[in-house]
Amino acid sequence: MTKRLGVLLSGRGSNFEALADSVDAGRIPDAEISVVVSNREGAPGIERARARNIAARVIPSKGLEREAFDRQVVALLQEHRVELVCLAGYMRLLSPYFVAAFPNRILNIHPSLLPAFPGLESQKQALEYGAKFAGCTVHFVDENLDAGPIILQAAVPVRDDDTEASLSQRILREEHRIYSEAVTLVLAGKFKITGRRVTRTET
Ligand code: GAR
Repeated sequence: MTKRLGVLLSGRGSNFEALADSVDAGRIPDAEISVVVSNREGAPGIERARARNIAARVIPSKGLEREAFDRQVVALLQEHRVELVCLAGYMRLLSPYFVAAFPNRILNIHPSLLPAFPGLESQKQALEYGAKFAGCTVHFVDENLDAGPIILQAAVPVRDDDTEASLSQRILREEHRIYSEAVTLVLAGKFKITGRRVTRTET
């Protein structure tokens, strides 16, 4: 049966497009993106979704209390019978209400090798810290910032001549690759979570 994905974003939407491309190409098998939701008016990702004829909705978060906003988003995802929620540049913490509505069914992509450099401008943080490797992480989402068990990571060497832009671009390429891989793994149910450890299983 086709698995229904919901994508949440706040901005550009390149990770959403990478997921959509993977669905279209069959790299994420038996799946469709049923709805894309943004908390920000004018997020380019919403236009990108509409251009692909994917249902796309803006639910403005400004001025709303966290759980009140999340209740609206969860209701929309449930309306679309979403089974797996993918955060793709979604710049909001989820409330316990949201997390409980999709247990182990919410993924996030973050542009660092967590637990290093959570939060904003992670690529800049890595450069300024002097890290020799940067990278990206796909993890399950809980109510804490950029936390939750890690599903996949990819490392990217930091070059002496890197700028924030050049490093971000190389990391982004890896983000697009591992996000699809992680979604495929989770949809296939071929993993188990023991404490914080996510390991692959055969079935
Ligand atoms: C990506 O680099 C993603 O990893 C990051 O925002 C960017 C969104 O780009 N997410 C976070 O920092 C979440 N903590 P996109 O809109 O082109 O996918």
